[in-house]
Parts: sequence; C-alpha cells; structure tokens
Amino acid sequence: MESTPANDLVIEFRDVSYTLPTGQQVLSGLSLEVRRGQTLVLLGRSGSGKTTGLKLVNRLLSPTGGEVRVNGLAAGDVVRLRRSIGYVIQEVGLFPHFTVERNIALVPTIEGWPEERIRTRVRELLQIVGLEPSMASRYPRQLSGGQRQRVGVARALAADPPILLMDEPFGALDPLTRDELQREFLALQQQLSKTVVFVTHDLREALRLASRIALMEAGRLVTVLAPQDFVRSDDPWASAYVRAFGVVPASAASRNEVRNEVRNEVRNEVRNEDRNAS
Ligand SMILES: Nc1ncnc2c1ncn2[C@@H]1O[C@H](COP(=O)(O)OP(=O)(O)OP(=O)(O)O)[C@@H](O)[C@H]1O
Ligand SMILES: [Mg+2]
Repeated sequence: MESTPANDLVIEFRDVSYTLPTGQQVLSGLSLEVRRGQTLVLLGRSGSGKTTGLKLVNRLLSPTGGEVRVNGLAAGDVVRLRRSIGYVIQEVGLFPHFTVERNIALVPTIEGWPEERIRTRVRELLQIVGLEPSMASRYPRQLSGGQRQRVGVARALAADPPILLMDEPFGALDPLTRDELQREFLALQQQLSKTVVFVTHDLREALRLASRIALMEAGRLVTVLAPQDFVRSDDPWASAYVRAFGVVPASAASRNEVRNEVRNEVRNEVRNEDRNAS
C-alpha cells in the first residue's frame, strides 16, 4: 500500500454494483481507487461496463449496491459535484444549434464568467485541442467527426475542473491526429495534474496514457496494473489483450521515450515562456 495521505484519494468505488430494472447486472463487485493527479484507464471490450462506470462518478447513475465516493463523499450536492468534473461524452453530445464557441463556453457561461474572460478561454482551448480560431463560429454539423470530438474535449476542460471523465475521447480520430492529441494530453497532464478516468478499448492508448490500467470484462474488474506490469502480466485476460494488439514489452520502453520527449517539450515551452516574460 502506498503511504499517500488519505485526502489524495479522489475517486473510490467500494464494492459497486449496478443492476438494471430488468435484472441485468451491468457492473458487480467493482472496487477501484484513483488518486489525485493519476490517470486511471478503464480498458475493456464493448459492453463491459466502462461508460456505466464513468456515469456513476458524476452521478448520472446511482449504484444499486456499494458506493462511489468523490473527494470522500458518496452523497451531497450534485450540481457542485458536476462542476468539479469535466465530462467528455462518448458520442460527443454537442448542442447542434449552438456554435462551437457556445458549446465550449457552456460551463463558464452557467458559472457567470464575464464575456471577455469566456472569449479568451475559448480561444485558448481551441489552440490546446488544435482547432483554428475561425472554427469558433461554426456549428457542429459543419465539422468533421474528429473536429467535433476535439470540441468535446475543449468543452470538458473549459472551467478547469480538477476531475476529468473521458469516454473514448479520441475514438473517431485518424492515427496521426490521435497521436497528436495523446501527446497533448500527456503534456497537459504534466502541467495540470488532473485526476482522470479515461475509457478506451485501445491497449496502445492505455499503455501510453495510464498511471494504471483497470481491465474490465463483463461488468467485472479483472485486474488493475501499471502499464509496465500490464504488458508482462500472466493474467489470461491481460495477456489476451497484449497478444491481440501485438504489443511486446518493449512498448513500455517506447512509452517512456514518448513521456520523456513530452517532458522535454514542456520544459522547453516553459523556458521560452519564462524568457519571453523577462
Ligand atoms: N439503460 C440501459 N438499458 C439497457 N441496457 C443497458 C443500459 N445501459 C447499459 N446497458 C447495457 O449494459 C452493458 C454495459 O454498457 P456500457 O455502456 O457501460 O458498456 P461500455 O463498456 O461502455 O461499451 P462500449 O465500449 O461499447 O461503449 C451493455 O451490455 C449495455 O447494453
Ligand atoms: Mg461506452
């Protein structure tokens, strides 16, 4: 057990189950912890309960057994809770009759930020997710699927929430753009240290982004492992994944290379900013 203080525990699943009114068990016996600044990746095949797990965190769903705690609380003000959580929805879920700008500005607007601050923030976010400033005035139907997905990420980041729930946020992207956004995610994570639950069924994405990988199968947690242990695991489900993706343990090394590369890029950027500021 790590000797981290208890208040570092941001999200806790304690023996959680979720059963539909029809009696179908979607999740059972799920126990998980996410500490401040960690990225927990939920990895698992379609229908294994990943999206359901996310929705239990921001209380779009309530567990039928056990409890989900956020910052130590299993109940309380839902509005306040949701404001502390950015949610990238699996189907993106932009409002079709809102421009990109208004979609991204949703939470800051609800929170009553001054207009100028919102405008500045939207510009900043468009840049972070790699969209042209001119896209701000477009409507979602005028964007490609991948561009819409980036707007979804920008919207979740808008009010700088300490917790992020990301449901296959890069799923609809081509491999090059996906690679770019994964790098940006790692760089942001190093600067902002958010507590993230990230859903994917892509093992390579999981290995690259996760502090720990929680492997789900049919509503149950199979195992939780650090990426470097995942690729070497003799757990039958984990090794089936590793085989299916043709990943060799050397990938752990290349993952560290990417991380170091990103770390250096961030350092250089910070240095440049310092230089410009002085
Ligand atoms: N409201 C619902 N009514 C009926 N079945 C549901 C409902 N919500 C979830 N399920 C079922 O629960 C299971 C888990 O769904 P969930 O959306 O959590 O899966 P997932 O792991 O996110 O899958 P995917 O990778 O395809 O997004 C699936 O079998 C799904 O059909
Ligand atoms: Mg899902």
